[in-house]
Amino acid sequence: MSTATRLEDAIAELAGFNDDPAAGGITREVYTPTYRAALDRVAKWMRDAGLEVRLDAVGNLFGRWEGAEPDAPLVLTGSHVDTTLNAGRYDGVLGVLGAIEAVRLLQEAGTVPRRSIELVAWAGEEPRFGTGCVGSRAAAGRLERADLDRLCDRDGTSMATALRDAGFDPDRLADAAIDPATVHALVELHIEQGVVLETGGESIGVVTAIAAPHDFRLGFRGAATHAGATPMHLRRDALAGAAEAMTALERIVRASPSGTTVGTVGAIRVRPGAINVVPGTAELDVDVRDSDLGARTQVVEDVLAAAREIAAQRRLELELTPIVEDVPVACEPGVVAAAEAAVRELGLPYRRMTSGAYHDAMVLGSRVPIGMIFVPSAGGVSHHPDEHTDAADLERGVRVLVGTLARLAA
Ligand code: GLV
Ligand code: MN
Ligand code: MN
Repeated sequence: MSTATRLEDAIAELAGFNDDPAAGGITREVYTPTYRAALDRVAKWMRDAGLEVRLDAVGNLFGRWEGAEPDAPLVLTGSHVDTTLNAGRYDGVLGVLGAIEAVRLLQEAGTVPRRSIELVAWAGEEPRFGTGCVGSRAAAGRLERADLDRLCDRDGTSMATALRDAGFDPDRLADAAIDPATVHALVELHIEQGVVLETGGESIGVVTAIAAPHDFRLGFRGAATHAGATPMHLRRDALAGAAEAMTALERIVRASPSGTTVGTVGAIRVRPGAINVVPGTAELDVDVRDSDLGARTQVVEDVLAAAREIAAQRRLELELTPIVEDVPVACEPGVVAAAEAAVRELGLPYRRMTSGAYHDAMVLGSRVPIGMIFVPSAGGVSHHPDEHTDAADLERGVRVLVGTLARLAA
């Protein structure tokens, strides 16, 4: 069977682990029984490829191919198999199943890596608990025990409870930390999730930097009064204030001098939420990203100033709740060079590019040398049921990963 067919078949099989098929797309959030079943399937594929499989204290799944020098710092590669809501089948999954396929190809070619190569499916890259990348954060030693009680999903379930329900002990969080000295490099294969490669006609993106999110919640509080009996000038409408803040966000982000800042309100909660009651509270979940930290910081400051001013003018109270503030990372020149050499050897058209989406590699990038390889996303569609990457592009991504791993592990 060809690499492309085997990979497509595996991706299709994993897509069957889905909590919400009726709504379209794939919903497979971390620590759910469906996620665990999918992870068990991945573990079996890893074992079939001859890897030694283990699960760490927060559910990161590793598959180890021991190198000729088992004590040498190793090469890590992988991504995630959890999804956001009603998502596509390639996001994250390609980096895990593609890595298994890459190991198979290396083995078939008779490669004996000097360094061990470890495959990983990081737990919870998608933000079930508001903050994404919880598994890689634990591995990077950037998650505290108190965070596990603080981070809650949209139903109010804390990460600590979710861990316990999934059979893990939250008090063993520290066991998941990886000693950076044991890692030579980390490389993550991923779909682009944008239109840059497709537009440029390139098959491969070699990532040079990953933009990072600053996420926070703006809570506006006014007065929930009768929608018929309260004259306009006597209202304290929390949602009207939030709406004004939302358009201010868009205006400020568009004017950002970096030209690369993006800002989104992806979730709004309004209470009481009845057509005949003036909204008493409105919450906006705000996500601002850039690979330029200075520009992002300025945008967030300006957005907060605008929100305070809007709240004051409308006699609303404003509450700011931090969610996450990550730092953009540069990919390590040695990992970038290995990926570029692999692409050139295959003679593929490629481009060096920045990742607008975040990835587990971003979180690990503060601790170990990282790099990423992108393949095109049809129409740039991602986090959506129509997410698609052609089989030929999947295979090209795997072949570039093969060449990159061979160089990094030599
Ligand atoms: C990752 O899924 C992101 O939102 O960038
Ligand atoms: Mn995603
Ligand atoms: Mn992803």
